[in-house]
Amino acid sequence: MLTPLFVALALLFASPTWAQQQFPDCVNGPLANTTVCDTSATPTARAKALVAMFTTAEMISNTDNGTPGVPRLGLPPYQWWSEALHGVAGSPGVFFASSGNFSSATSFPGPILMSAAFDDELIKEVATVVSTEARAFDNAGRAGLDFFTPNINPFRDPRWGRGQETPGEDPFRGAQYVFNLIQGLQGGIDPATFKIVADCKHWAGYDLENWEGNSRHSFNAVISQQDLSEYYLPSFQSCVRDAKVGSVMCSYNAVNGIPSCANTFLLQTILRDTWGFDQDRWVTSDCDAISDFINHNYVADLPHAAAAGILAGTDVDCGSTYGDNLQAALTMGLLNETDISASLTRLYSSLVRLGYFDPAASQPYRQLGWTDVNTPSAQNLAYQAAVEGLTLLKNDGTLPLSKSIKKLALIGPWANATTSMQGNYAGVAPFLISPLMAAQSAGFSATYSEGTTIDTTDTSGFAAAVTAAQAADAIIFLGGIDNSVEAEGNDRTAIAWTGNQLDLVSQLSALSKPLVVVQFGGGQVDDAALKNNSAVNSILWAGYPGQSGGTAILDVLKGKVSPAGRLVTTQYPADYVNEVPMTDMSLRVSSSNPGRTYKWYSGVPTFEFGTGLSFTSFALNFAPGTTTTYSIQSLVANGKSAAHLDLAAFDTFSVSVHNSGKVASDFVSLLFVKTTNAGPAPFPNKVLVSYARTKGIAPGQSVTARLAVTLGSIARVGTDGSAWLYPGDYSLLLDVPTAVTHNFRLTGSAAQITHFPVDTESS
Ligand SMILES: *[C@@H]1O[C@H](CO)[C@@H](O)[C@H](O)[C@H]1NC(C)=O
Ligand SMILES: *[C@@H]1O[C@H](CO)[C@@H](O)[C@H](O)[C@H]1NC(C)=O
Ligand SMILES: *[C@@H]1O[C@H](CO)[C@@H](O)[C@H](O)[C@H]1NC(C)=O
Ligand SMILES: *[C@@H]1O[C@H](CO)[C@@H](O)[C@H](O)[C@H]1NC(C)=O
Ligand SMILES: *[C@@H]1O[C@H](CO)[C@@H](O)[C@H](O)[C@H]1NC(C)=O
Repeated sequence: MLTPLFVALALLFASPTWAQQQFPDCVNGPLANTTVCDTSATPTARAKALVAMFTTAEMISNTDNGTPGVPRLGLPPYQWWSEALHGVAGSPGVFFASSGNFSSATSFPGPILMSAAFDDELIKEVATVVSTEARAFDNAGRAGLDFFTPNINPFRDPRWGRGQETPGEDPFRGAQYVFNLIQGLQGGIDPATFKIVADCKHWAGYDLENWEGNSRHSFNAVISQQDLSEYYLPSFQSCVRDAKVGSVMCSYNAVNGIPSCANTFLLQTILRDTWGFDQDRWVTSDCDAISDFINHNYVADLPHAAAAGILAGTDVDCGSTYGDNLQAALTMGLLNETDISASLTRLYSSLVRLGYFDPAASQPYRQLGWTDVNTPSAQNLAYQAAVEGLTLLKNDGTLPLSKSIKKLALIGPWANATTSMQGNYAGVAPFLISPLMAAQSAGFSATYSEGTTIDTTDTSGFAAAVTAAQAADAIIFLGGIDNSVEAEGNDRTAIAWTGNQLDLVSQLSALSKPLVVVQFGGGQVDDAALKNNSAVNSILWAGYPGQSGGTAILDVLKGKVSPAGRLVTTQYPADYVNEVPMTDMSLRVSSSNPGRTYKWYSGVPTFEFGTGLSFTSFALNFAPGTTTTYSIQSLVANGKSAAHLDLAAFDTFSVSVHNSGKVASDFVSLLFVKTTNAGPAPFPNKVLVSYARTKGIAPGQSVTARLAVTLGSIARVGTDGSAWLYPGDYSLLLDVPTAVTHNFRLTGSAAQITHFPVDTESS
């Protein structure tokens, strides 16, 4: 006869139709009454007690992302790899049902569009919905508790296929975005019980997929300490040090000669020693990045790769190199069991912090279920995130469309887009409202003609498109780029509009009808020709707008909502790709580099970072009496009580925002700082130091935006990576283009604000 325990175990491990996630049984299972299940012990003590029960073979078998657990201990299989970039997403740990309950999850816009809203509360709310739905999936056995999101590498080069996954090119924007996002995902800053564990990726200097024969699997990113500290790392510092993320993913590329996942300067010196990434937190490799050590010519064989990864502090291998090679590495004496158990202890103590080893009744998130997924408020938030991010680049007054316009021709490859609106790392949306569907439900008589695809030499569809356009009151062309040209594994080589799309727009622009171009994609395409063409009346950037993208776009076109999003990337002239190779990681101007991002680009962008028009007009002013002189020594003395000096207050600037136009609108206040004599040359063009989105400002109304600025934002980073406050003259620039400036002076002597560690390891 079978014992009850055996029956329970057999049920636990019976294979359902999907690889169901399970919690260990801390009441009746073999771990009950051990320290592992003792809620009064520390997470580390509980994890250590668990790992101490493993044999060496059991340890090694649990070092890859897809773990078998330890059946004899009642430790179920666990998949470390789930995804949720902008909603619970398809991945090895996530299982959508084919129909009914758990067959979909709210699909928010791609991060780059959400970032363009410049709304911190929005990001926190979106992340809160994502973690709620993720937990509900987990409770149903349909997801893990660890999600390999967000992607916070700054969008350095417009060609990058994954720039769409990020909050854009600016490190300050990236830092604020991730600080808010992680709180929503993990359930606060370092809560006793994590809601889910997020994973900031890709650590570090990763922003190239495959460009002209340079693959991410072997690319060595050569980055100066100044650029590393000033540009590539701030979003990670915010994620790790300030938002206290539970995990980090090291990247495929090498940094200054050492693969990221073997790089002790990155993984130990900065992450753990400087930023306090402690024992309940862990590092995963990007998937198969450990075996890529061979492509980097860093090691000769896989046992050496596995040992190098563990010894550097890469705790789990997304891949199979650890599981397949750590026994050989032990035999070869490259590492010992203690090294492996240190990593496993970090991993399991994180699961302890997720309540994995605790009874459901005592856990705050274990009651979430299908009724918590796709709620009406979550659906509304997906719409809100899209509409807030939409960014108006050009408008001669054609938008909002006049009430007399009844018949719309929707033309172009995005006119009836559905799943395309989701972009990279998508799940199954509960519904997808294309622009065409939204136009029809908005009461327009809408015709549709694709006309052309994103990139083709076939012009056979032009005639039908022109005929549809001729019969309409207004023409909406919806195109740009999509995942066929920008995607994981695929960088662009051109940033121009494709000729076929431009040719069709040119034919449409000859019809003398209102013509609006809606430009899609996470990376920009050079709009110069459309900006130049007075018959193209308006241009609206829509990124990857998610499940309610069509509705959001139509609500802006017809004037239900005034747009207020701002570009989070520079829109470069098409020739930019010929001026600097993608492999050049440097940011400043040199003989072979026109400079990167709005901070250093020396050319004239087609549309500048921060561009974004409204249907109303605003008058801006700094409050009377705004301070004009600050003593560096007083600022530093007053800042001593802050957790970190770079986060200490510099000042909070009050700005009056007056809606001087005729319609209500949100307004994003963007505040930059500039100096031409403080600290070492060369000086950045300007630096974003604060922003605020003020909602629903009525015509005639004046509101005050309060723009907090930290010492770290005013400080300048030197060649060693450390930041200093320098005496000299500065200007605050409000809005893009600059609407009003305020000058101030820093007096006293230069003071060091941050200390960047020295890299003693790299070449
Ligand atoms: C745990 O300990 C309690 C109290 O000693 C006992 O009743 C229970 O059977 C034990 N559970 C297991 C699974 O050993
Ligand atoms: C689907 O979820 C609802 C709400 O939780 C529940 O009442 C219902 O029983 C579930 N249906 C199935 C088939 O599990
Ligand atoms: C295991 O190796 C580490 C160095 O990687 C060393 O510090 C430690 O003492 C070793 N432990 C044992 C038990 O040999
Ligand atoms: C628009 O797309 C939807 C969803 O793919 C499809 O069902 C519909 O037929 C398309 N409409 C037209 C007019 O092609
Ligand atoms: C824009 O117009 C100017 C002046 O007509 C012209 O010189 C320039 O080539 C045009 N640029 C593009 C991209 O069409």
